[in-house]
Amino acid sequence: MSQRTLVLLKPDAVRRGLVGEIIGRIERKAGWTVGALEMRTLQRATLEQHYAEHVGKPFYEPLVEFMSSGPSVALVVEGERVIEGLRAMAGPTDPIAAAPGSIRGDFGTIVRENLIHASDSAESAEREIKIFFPELG
Ligand code: PPS
Repeated sequence: MSQRTLVLLKPDAVRRGLVGEIIGRIERKAGWTVGALEMRTLQRATLEQHYAEHVGKPFYEPLVEFMSSGPSVALVVEGERVIEGLRAMAGPTDPIAAAPGSIRGDFGTIVRENLIHASDSAESAEREIKIFFPELG
């Protein structure tokens, strides 16, 4: 089933020069393609929309602070079962728990700076794509 998902390469990925490495992994996956891409520093208002379901959680403020601390790269990735596949490629939220071979397992350090966001469902993907790429909505 062909799907699309929203990926953010977070400010730590940009600062550490890992954008090419991560996009390379995505592009090498058979049947997946990058359909849109933009680099920019995310504004608080954008992040409030994106992380609306997490407002009030203890990690919310540090997360928004970190996510607005420098440029991120937003991508739409399209392909076969790409929502589930990209979550697997990223690995679990906590890099310590992430297996070698996953992006967070290979490069992650701490939970907040875990390099990559990928939509967790088809509904989230459509909601998030509208936030970052309204022209594709
Ligand atoms: S939840 O409550 O289970 O839905 O949370 P989770 O899916 O694990 O994480 C939601 C997003 O919050 C980030 N996160 C954190 N940021 C900073 N500090 C801490 N402690 C922390 N815990 C979770 C996590 O990386 C998720 O961000 P995205 O961008 O979706 O990966």
